[in-house]
Amino acid sequence: MNKNEFYQSLLGQVKAIISDESDVIANMANISAILFNAYDDVNWAGFYRMLDGELVLGPFQGQVACIRIPVGRGVCGTAVSTRQTQLVADVHQFTGHIACDALSNSEIVIPVFADNEVIAVLDIDSVTYNRFDDEDKKGLEAIVEVLQQQINNK
Ligand code: SME
Repeated sequence: MNKNEFYQSLLGQVKAIISDESDVIANMANISAILFNAYDDVNWAGFYRMLDGELVLGPFQGQVACIRIPVGRGVCGTAVSTRQTQLVADVHQFTGHIACDALSNSEIVIPVFADNEVIAVLDIDSVTYNRFDDEDKKGLEAIVEVLQQQINNK
């Protein structure tokens, strides 16, 4: 299976599982489970939600993680302040990276929007350096888009 087929398959699973459910926490929980189990070198996959102006740990799979991240801090906080996906090939070179799991070597963080505001981020960490590329970015942004549509349909 090439990357495009891999993400088409994940997208189909995500659509099938969240399309009949409006609860955002339940949908984030199932997306985390789908993603965490889909890769063999991902050690953490989950969401942080924006609550009272900072990121707060949400549904995830993986090791215990830091709970609160200020906007602009770490890779997750940078995804919020820039409103852009962050692709980090080597987290040890990212100034301000917040190390939750010492095994993480690369990371991708995608902002989740509702009403033009960042309401959460999807964070995926890998033990492999340079694990995520533009194709992963596109594939994961498409998955986040499905979640956004579900949130905005409410
Ligand atoms: N590394 C992230 C923090 C979250 S954990 O990786 C789960 C960051 O720098 O924002």
